[in-house]
Amino acid sequence: MIELLFLICAYMIGSIPTAVWVSKGVFGMDIREYGSGNAGATNTFRVLGPKAGTFVMVVDMLKGVIAVRLSYMLPYYQDTEHLTQLVNFQIGLGLAAVVGHIFPIWAGFRGGKGIATLFGLVLAIQPIVAICCVAVFLMILFLTRYVSLSSIIASIAFPILILYIFNEPEVFYRIFAIAVALMVVLTHQKNIARLITGNENKVPLFRNRKG
Ligand code: G3P
Repeated sequence: MIELLFLICAYMIGSIPTAVWVSKGVFGMDIREYGSGNAGATNTFRVLGPKAGTFVMVVDMLKGVIAVRLSYMLPYYQDTEHLTQLVNFQIGLGLAAVVGHIFPIWAGFRGGKGIATLFGLVLAIQPIVAICCVAVFLMILFLTRYVSLSSIIASIAFPILILYIFNEPEVFYRIFAIAVALMVVLTHQKNIARLITGNENKVPLFRNRKG
């Protein structure tokens, strides 16, 4: 029962609409009315610049880390005998934060796509896998300059790494990894449509001479 309260707490943390509050509080506008309309770090970079974008990215990532770390407040999960339960609970807490980020109670349930918070969740429970996903993300970003495509491919790399490279034995973890990839594809439907029609935004970073 206490776990349910913690899950609600994780959802509330994930619901902190960093991009919306920064855009409204500092710039007097709602980020959801500009750029891609997404209340996330990428659109904040795009519309409000690198300082605001970096701030939003770090805070959104920390939401995932903090949600996972809530698990250490319950003595039951401190016991090494309950390691499997701990990881499962941490995944639940992290996912609750991601759901909060996508559907924030503090911002009319119109949030972001969950990438930074998902990254925080994976970083907190499997840092090496998280670093591998970042490497995939950066490689695709460098090659294509599409943040959305980089996010999608990095999220698809996540279950591949978990299932085939790290050979994770926990069924719940394997299901979680596949669910993450599906969730990211679902939250990026508009980006996928724009990628197909050639209308997706590219980041100006790494711009080549022709670019
Ligand atoms: O993290 C979201 C990113 O993958 C795409 O964001 O603003 O280009 O839709 P945006």
